[in-house]
Amino acid sequence: MKRIGILTSGGDCQGLNAAIRGVAKALYVEFDNDVEIYGINDGYRGLIEGNYKRMKSEDFSGILTLGGTILGTSRQPFKLMRVIDENSVDKVKNMKENYKKMKLDCLVVLGGNGTHKTANLLSEEGLNVVSLPKTIDNDVWGTDMTFGFHSAMSIAANVLDCIHTTATSHGRVFIVEIMGHKVGWLTLYAGIAGGADVILLPEIPYDIESVVKTIKQRNEAGKRFSILAVAEGVISQEEAKMTKKELKTARANMKFPSISYRLAQEIGEKTGQEIRVTVPGHFQRGGSPCPYDRVLSTRFGAAAAKLIANKQYGNMVGLQNGAIVPVPLAEVAGKLKVVPKDCDVIQTGRDIGISFGD
Ligand code: F6P
Repeated sequence: MKRIGILTSGGDCQGLNAAIRGVAKALYVEFDNDVEIYGINDGYRGLIEGNYKRMKSEDFSGILTLGGTILGTSRQPFKLMRVIDENSVDKVKNMKENYKKMKLDCLVVLGGNGTHKTANLLSEEGLNVVSLPKTIDNDVWGTDMTFGFHSAMSIAANVLDCIHTTATSHGRVFIVEIMGHKVGWLTLYAGIAGGADVILLPEIPYDIESVVKTIKQRNEAGKRFSILAVAEGVISQEEAKMTKKELKTARANMKFPSISYRLAQEIGEKTGQEIRVTVPGHFQRGGSPCPYDRVLSTRFGAAAAKLIANKQYGNMVGLQNGAIVPVPLAEVAGKLKVVPKDCDVIQTGRDIGISFGD
């Protein structure tokens, strides 16, 4: 009898339940039903606190299209994992003890970057861990694609589509703020899919004069509106020269709720045009996974079960050049997959006249 624990950690995204289902169904097939699956509630917090439940095969039925995660999730910062908290809780010790208490053969972890750092820590501590990469940000190193990304991209692109009609009617400049603090994959892809005129990414610090120039040129060409797809983590070229600490202070003192509102004020002053800001926010992480994510989640889930059957612990399942491959957790942990400034999608954008604000 195999005993497998499963948890979802970090920000939720579409496809988590599809992936949980994929893992479970493939485990039942792989081990000919000779397997017990334990659902650990609310991410690593559940493992720390010993909050888990034995799951039955019916728990995994009817969840393919369900958004969110049936296991619940939480953010447990990696940097605090080894810090004993005010209640004297040793998180790593607790997680190891609860793993033993559950008599697990393997812990399956579904998560993004922070989650993978802790997954690697647990693997280094001797636990058998297999992981799946999820996040709407698509910034997990070692995989070409994370599940959640395509669903969120569809939502963000749909926002841009809807904004187009109202922006055209009123002849306004619209800023659509898209999720992504450190990386701009979602903004880049949604921006291209949604026909944005300007795309601003964290990886390419913007020059406000360049952004304004694009809007003015569009006006001169008789275009009534301009649409900017802006990642929530964009920085200006001046800010790019600051230290991390200086930038943090500057942003903490910023009088705007987010960077898009500051951009709106600056662009409004420099162009005299009416500007509106739309922030779809967590809407982008909600709802049913798109078919692409359902397939990817299922592929990742089934591949994770294979890794467990082959005792290939200490690996994440990743998608590389169309193939599902094991990627060592030690290689994944602590790295971020940012958008290369010279990638072909950015070049395509430039080729059709999209401004990246540089
Ligand atoms: O999980 C990724 C993400 O949605 C980022 O795009 C975003 O910056 C962040 O999470 C928001 O975090 P929270 O849900 O904790 O507000």
